[in-house]
Amino acid sequence: MCGIFGYLGNKNSIKACLNGLKLLEYRGYDSAGIATIKNGSLINFKASGKLISLEKKINIKNLNLDLAIGHTRWATHGAANEKNAHPHLDEMKNVAIVHNGIIENYDILKKDLQSKGVKFRSETDSEVIAQLIFKNYKKNLLDATLKTLKEVKGSLAIVVIHKNHPHEIVAATRESPLAIGFDDKKNEFIISSDPNAFSGRNLNVIFLKNNEIAHIKKNDLIVINLRKQKVHKKFEKLNSKNLIFSKKGFEHFLLKEIFDQPLTIQKAYLGRAIEDKGQVEFEHLNFTKKFLSKIDNIIVTACGTSYHASLIAKAYFEDQANIRTSAEIASEMRFKNLLITKNTLVIAISQSGETADTMAALKAAKAKGAKTLSIVNVQNSTISRFTDESIFLKAGPERSVCSTKAFSSQITVLYLFAIYLARLRDMKKREAILFLKELKKIPLKIRKVLKISSLINEQAKKYAKFDSFFFLGRNLMYPTAMEAALKLKEISYLNANAYPAGEMKHGPLALISNKLPVIAFCSNEKTYDKMLSSLMEAKARGAPILAFATKNSYGIEDIADDVIWLEKTTDELAIFPSSVAAQLFAYYVAKIRKTDIDQPRNLAKSVTVE
Ligand code: M6R
Repeated sequence: MCGIFGYLGNKNSIKACLNGLKLLEYRGYDSAGIATIKNGSLINFKASGKLISLEKKINIKNLNLDLAIGHTRWATHGAANEKNAHPHLDEMKNVAIVHNGIIENYDILKKDLQSKGVKFRSETDSEVIAQLIFKNYKKNLLDATLKTLKEVKGSLAIVVIHKNHPHEIVAATRESPLAIGFDDKKNEFIISSDPNAFSGRNLNVIFLKNNEIAHIKKNDLIVINLRKQKVHKKFEKLNSKNLIFSKKGFEHFLLKEIFDQPLTIQKAYLGRAIEDKGQVEFEHLNFTKKFLSKIDNIIVTACGTSYHASLIAKAYFEDQANIRTSAEIASEMRFKNLLITKNTLVIAISQSGETADTMAALKAAKAKGAKTLSIVNVQNSTISRFTDESIFLKAGPERSVCSTKAFSSQITVLYLFAIYLARLRDMKKREAILFLKELKKIPLKIRKVLKISSLINEQAKKYAKFDSFFFLGRNLMYPTAMEAALKLKEISYLNANAYPAGEMKHGPLALISNKLPVIAFCSNEKTYDKMLSSLMEAKARGAPILAFATKNSYGIEDIADDVIWLEKTTDELAIFPSSVAAQLFAYYVAKIRKTDIDQPRNLAKSVTVE
């Protein structure tokens, strides 16, 4: 997590840093800080909370300097307060660093330094880096950083400045992404943990690899490895369009992104589905047809919402393409005995393409020789560069921490990919045409859900007074319920327990009372009758029931207290209208509860620590 930004060039570095941090704030907003060098001294500004608090503390006009480093933090070691905000300085205020990652041996290093009389100001693991660089400094900042890198264990992306080097930045990385952008004349250098911060600029970009160190001086950049050998880096031309971060008149990014979905689903679909031929094509997918048609085992891995998409993927790949598939929570997968053969495909799903747990799972899979595919939203992201092949969601930037449009685009791509694999096996053209036609209707069906947003708001008003919920579903409505429950937890801070409805009688039913509503997802025909029986059992014990059900379904009105009626589609695709309705429900409950909807407490958009 956390966002790093550094600037060296001929423009106002503080202004550049603040603008860059704005683009990175989604990575963490517990605190922010900036350091620069003025008249041979380090100046450091820090504030807890969001970037706006930092901006208020800085008078840019008095600071027309050409170098600065900044950071926006998601707390790991140490509380989310100003003291622990980055940049961190050594005790003599010579060195300033910003750091992403975790220093695993910081405790030993800190104790050692303390035993030599070094005073620490923060509770963070990061501060130890600044103190070590100062200790190792002998008039050469690059050498001091290099020596320090050999002493610290763990993951890191760091950017370092020293008061005696007002035109010099050292940046290094290990297991944590760091990119450097520069113009053709090398008048400006931007260092960032995330190429999102290069928005609006046409830059040459290099991505540092493990244990590479960049030494940036005025109009000059070299990259070396830990043995101090020069590394020749190829740069990519990044023609980054200005990312439009506008709420487009909506009160929150989340609501805008929920309403974006008819369009973003279309973007994921168009150019890939060739309906009249019953074919699917993916641009730049270079796996051989021979490999694709021999795949007999797929492992899909991801975290959070993307993991819920993996559960749907499992059903799609098994039902459409008859390929055995497992869905693995990424943070668990790397500790398992992965059964990978030459016919295994490992798919990582990630909106950000930066999630550390997903990267770790991918690395474990690659180490066992797996072929890898990523389904990601952010191009040039770490995960997309690491996997053999990538399919992009094309959903555009998702600003709200709570993922919505990325999820529906993931489901769209996964459904298309299942048809793609099935057509290489035994799915008939006629069948594929029907599947594609049904998918094509989804944006329209979602529009209809969006049209009843005020009805959903009314239900939210009724249910927002409860503190705890059961979210129930069966078949594909179970992962739908899991995803819906996550939305409610994440943005309204309420307890929401997702269960496959049939499991209730095996224990959880004991919790049911009139104080614990059931939110029921009923849009799978295959399990509809069974779902009604489970709901009867909950009703008999007094649970208030709100059901999301397909229009004209029988029986549910007699059981549920309230029903939100959704458009009919197939069991496979019912997740779309159901999850959009659930997103709206969570949004309105959160609004009533007055939470921080776009940036919920304790969270970050991109989770780059394991
Ligand atoms: O960027 P990723 O898709 O890899 O992120 C995975 C999760 O951190 C993410 O989906 C998270 O669960 C969302 N905030 C949920 O809305």
